Amino acid sequence: MKYKSQKVAYMFFALSMVLLLLQIVYGFIMAFAHAGYDGLHEIIAFNTATATHKNLLVVWLLSGFMGAAYYIIPEEAQRELVSVKLALIQFWSLAIVGVVAVAGFHVGWWEGRKFLEIPRALDYLVVVNVLLFLGIILVTLFKGKEKTTTAMVLAMGLFFAALLYLPGMIWFDNQSMDSFFRWWVVHLWVEGVWELIMGGILAFLLIKLTGVDRELIEKWLYVIVGLTFLSGILGTGHHYYYIGAPKYWLMIGGIFSALEPLAFLGMALFAFAMYRKGEKNHPNKIALYWTLGTAIMSFAGAGLLGIAHTIPQVNMWTHGTLITAMHGHLAFWGAYAMIVFSIISYSMPLMTGRKLYDKPGAHYAFWLSNIGMIGMTTAFAAAGVAQVYLERKVGLDFMVSQNALHVHFWVLIGAATLFTIGILYYVVNFFKHGMPTDEALIDNK
Ligand code: HEM
Ligand code: HEM
Ligand SMILES: [Fe+2]
Repeated sequence: MKYKSQKVAYMFFALSMVLLLLQIVYGFIMAFAHAGYDGLHEIIAFNTATATHKNLLVVWLLSGFMGAAYYIIPEEAQRELVSVKLALIQFWSLAIVGVVAVAGFHVGWWEGRKFLEIPRALDYLVVVNVLLFLGIILVTLFKGKEKTTTAMVLAMGLFFAALLYLPGMIWFDNQSMDSFFRWWVVHLWVEGVWELIMGGILAFLLIKLTGVDRELIEKWLYVIVGLTFLSGILGTGHHYYYIGAPKYWLMIGGIFSALEPLAFLGMALFAFAMYRKGEKNHPNKIALYWTLGTAIMSFAGAGLLGIAHTIPQVNMWTHGTLITAMHGHLAFWGAYAMIVFSIISYSMPLMTGRKLYDKPGAHYAFWLSNIGMIGMTTAFAAAGVAQVYLERKVGLDFMVSQNALHVHFWVLIGAATLFTIGILYYVVNFFKHGMPTDEALIDNK
């Protein structure tokens, strides 16, 4: 850590950890409901649980990205953040809006559009919050000594992520139109601008952890940005096949979305090439595990499991089934959860001066969470294939086929337990670092 103001990242990371734990609770509620035990139905019905599970995910990831930006931007720009006070105001308002939104779902205050359930009134507060965040980050960057490619890609990703929140706020009476623009947010986030955020954080970590020249790492970053835009923008078409959009989207969506894994493959090759070239003497090995792990798991979850159902001929069977949940879990975990874990694992010892990366718990966290998540993904896959067969080939009613899937959800619960133990190790390790301190300023690796 070079600058005192970087410490503000800690607050965002801590919020991420707490909301992640809460997200997992709702995951279990749904998993038990799928296994036939929906005892909480009167208080937390499935629709409430699913909205809460997904929105908590989005908020903790965004909080993690914001923390990452508050840590990375000063170091790259070579100056303190323009205002720590404003960053703290932004933090508390984010936490309050997030908690109010999620509490609202429990009393029916929501919009009911998957991932964009937050009611309109709160959307405006989200916009104000994000504008404040961007203001702090961008002014710091432009007042700074350096404008590195890494920082610019990260800032660009954050800026466009904010901009792309807006299409989700346009009101339509027409279901197809509403769906069309909902994907500008959901798809263009995870398969577009969030990839830039991920690429920026990945580049920063690889520069620090491998010691390879910045010029080389940043050249790769251009390739990744290029591949992301080339495939991801028109790739949006893979959501337009069967929603009432014109027919040409079948072709456009099929072709361009099938190219999307290239960007993730690029990131994986990039990370491993840099690792091989690098010095391998950075003491924080666990941060490197998470970083390289992100590169592999994002390719598996987003790239491979994405392409598995992106062709119209396949998607017409799998659309909206547990096959989607299979892909959704490993993609979100591998790309965005793991990159947040990477930057936290890298920065916490530097912010607090406590080097807990050698503790066995840090390794258990990595292995158990990843093995658990692969198990969960496999359980979703088995359930999804069975669902497609029973519901769409055999023609059983939705709930009749769901009843045949209970066994897969017991497997899911087993794997999710392993996953959760891993996460608990991670969170305990996180809080054991204690609060950040100015004494940690000297150590700058
Ligand atoms: C103990 C851990 C977890 C359990 C038991 C769990 C379980 C579930 C269940 C049962 C669903 C509903 C599937 C359906 O639509 O019927 C779901 C949805 C979802 N979960 Fe989780 N989850 C867990 C952790 C996570 C994590 C860590 C992430 C992200 C990194 C995540 C991301 C998602 C997403 C994106 C969806 C929506 C899937 C879709 O679009 O179909 N979950 N989860
Ligand atoms: C890290 C990147 C990615 C994440 C986090 C992610 C996550 C998700 C989630 C949560 C959904 C469900 C959305 C909803 O129903 O509202 C979804 C749907 C989908 N994703 Fe991804 N995805 C990623 C990358 C990809 C890639 C690269 C491809 C293609 C190669 C892909 C193909 C698809 C398809 C075809 C659907 C629609 C499934 C359906 O029709 O139900 N995804 N993704
Ligand atoms: Fe997509």
